[in-house]
Amino acid sequence: MTAGMPRRRGVVPADSSTRIEIHLDGQPIGGTAGQTLAGVLIAAGRPSWRRSSGRDEPRGMFCGIGVCFDCIAEVNGERDVRLCRRRAVDGDRVVTQHDALPTPVRDEPGATDAGGADAAREETP
Ligand code: FES
Repeated sequence: MTAGMPRRRGVVPADSSTRIEIHLDGQPIGGTAGQTLAGVLIAAGRPSWRRSSGRDEPRGMFCGIGVCFDCIAEVNGERDVRLCRRRAVDGDRVVTQHDALPTPVRDEPGATDAGGADAAREETP
């Protein structure tokens, strides 16, 4: 390697001889050792595995380099995992995520907060 050339850290070439199996929402999906979870899903014809919070639209891989967070899902109980950055391991369990936006709370004119946290604070001597 020539001095000054960038080193390729963490690169694992796909090994087509080693098959793995992951699960997406309980459905088994075959892949190849060395693939990312996003790679396994896309290769299996599953381009989306999440719904957007605002418009409830399908989402999958967008940037593919860990920047956009479009590809998040739950992996083995861990939420918000970027599937484009996570190497697939045999037996991984991926669960799709959909987090609806919170409902805005509006102050109505003349409304009182009789039982809220502010009322409890005011009653404390
Ligand atoms: S596709 Fe953008 S972070 Fe994974």
